[in-house]
Amino acid sequence: MSQSIMESRTWTSKVDVVEEAQLPNPLRALLKSAHEAADKAYAPYSHFQVGSAVQLSNGEVVQGSNQENMAYPSGMCGERVAVFAAGAQHPGVTMESVAIVSPSEKAISEAFMPCGGCRQVLLEAERRQGTPIQILLQVRGEVVTLSKSAANLMPFAFDAHGLGDEVPAK
Ligand code: THU
Repeated sequence: MSQSIMESRTWTSKVDVVEEAQLPNPLRALLKSAHEAADKAYAPYSHFQVGSAVQLSNGEVVQGSNQENMAYPSGMCGERVAVFAAGAQHPGVTMESVAIVSPSEKAISEAFMPCGGCRQVLLEAERRQGTPIQILLQVRGEVVTLSKSAANLMPFAFDAHGLGDEVPAK
């Protein structure tokens, strides 16, 4: 059965892959903090440790790591733990960058990207504060994948405007 397409929509998004050594020191420090956070992961079921560090505009860095649970869906991703902790501990403070890393042997180089649920959470944090959140992703080694904004990682995102709701301001 063929159907006639009324319209096609394309989302173009871009990430940059760079050498860690090329990054400014504060971003390298943020990656280091995310790797330290990964050491605090609780991932006995997947053995896939994820660490995250959120750089706030007030200079604070908030860490998170994945916390799994025997009842699998009760666990939480590392970057969501970090973003929610930043929101809980520093409400209203702008998130400038979020580093997300996995040192796990299971992580295939460069292929590690945040899951859909985490992208949705990062996107809302970005919309809420009104300025882009830079995302840095790293597995092992010297390569870093950079996205200039969370929106760039979340094509065709769920948008509460469709429900008639606005994203609340800070
Ligand atoms: N995980 C994260 O922490 N972040 C992601 O973006 C993807 C997956 C965690 C969840 C779970 O603890 C483990 O990695 C395997 O899925």
